[in-house]
Amino acid sequence: MATLIAPHNAAELKPLFVSDPNERARLKTEAAQLPAITISSAAAGNAVMLAGGYFTPLAGFMSKADALGVGQTMRTSSGLFWPTPVLNLVHDAGAIEPGDRIALEDPNVEGAPVLAIQTVEAVDKFSASELEELAEQVFGTTDRKHPGVEQFMAQGDVALSGPIEVLNYSYFETDFPDTFRTAVDIRNEILERGWERVVAFQTRNPMHRAHEELCRMAMERLGADGLVIHMLLGKLKPGDIPAPVRDAAIRKMVELYFPENSTLITGYGFDMLYAGPREALLHAVFRQNMGATDFIVGRDHAGVGDYYEPFEAQEIFEKIPNDALKIQMFVADHTAFSKKLNKVVMMREAPDHTKDDFVLLSGTAVREMLGRGEALPGEFARPEVAQILMDYYREEAS
Ligand code: ADX
Repeated sequence: MATLIAPHNAAELKPLFVSDPNERARLKTEAAQLPAITISSAAAGNAVMLAGGYFTPLAGFMSKADALGVGQTMRTSSGLFWPTPVLNLVHDAGAIEPGDRIALEDPNVEGAPVLAIQTVEAVDKFSASELEELAEQVFGTTDRKHPGVEQFMAQGDVALSGPIEVLNYSYFETDFPDTFRTAVDIRNEILERGWERVVAFQTRNPMHRAHEELCRMAMERLGADGLVIHMLLGKLKPGDIPAPVRDAAIRKMVELYFPENSTLITGYGFDMLYAGPREALLHAVFRQNMGATDFIVGRDHAGVGDYYEPFEAQEIFEKIPNDALKIQMFVADHTAFSKKLNKVVMMREAPDHTKDDFVLLSGTAVREMLGRGEALPGEFARPEVAQILMDYYREEAS
């Protein structure tokens, strides 16, 4: 039987979802008696990732010391490689003390049901300058116009750290039953299919021609057995395309243009950080945890605006220690549609082309065209995908 790539610094995945229904029922009863706080959407996303095993080997929310270490050197206090802080930040801890068990309520579900129980190990306040420094290290900026920074800074300055036991998968399981998958699910699926070389593709967009061809190129060049399209299902900045529309567009594209049984269409419950290079590393960590051997990183991966250089997210992989990750990056150059060759190519592989020979394909350009009510040309999107997107924009406008 095939053996899968090892999880991040662990022999086995450590999902923090309480899978035994009796134990879950017992914890629910306990939660009703505990002091409760409604956590931030970002913390809820962290809990869902921890629940599904994506954040193996973490056992819960980081302490201030861990987060500062992660910011400075991408290591927690125990020396674990981790690229972004995994925090439960609140504005006011009230009477919560180390040793307390508390119920974490879900801000994203009607009635704020309990998402998890946390055993609080420490209550630590960040100074304003510590938070700013952390933002600078993780996002490369402290500019509040950066959607990730704004969201990070709005969460509060008190970190509640300690292990958690997670009781459900928030709205992801109910809203995206066909697409939301845990790292455990995906590992099992890969094993069942007997895939050994597995490419993971991160996306927060519907898949345009550039995305599609990147996946195809990676599959062919790596001789991969399978592709796991892994879309973000959590919150995005205003203007990004909502998950149900992206999901429908991706399903249509795979159905029509990928060989049968070559591709898993999956998603994960996490809010977008827009942290560019640092988020690319986090993406790699949790794709390793879900069992992928290779991870596509292209142009402006997890970027926003012009906060990052186009290939900064690739360069950071060269700077981390060799043994930090087992998953390999598939380095994707800027892909564009060649008018000369009538297909999507990596630009550096068409040295005889001038700039005018290419149609540049970017998610932003596509969103802008759709916003203006323009039809998407075939160089940008498959006609069936374009139709789904145009229908959505038409509905939005009416
Ligand atoms: S992301 O924020 O999730 O990274 P997006 O869904 O647009 O955004 O991109 C998914 C992946 O495709 C990323 O690795 C990104 O770098 C890559 N990508 C998207 N468009 C291009 C392109 N035109 N050229 C090269 N890589 C691209």
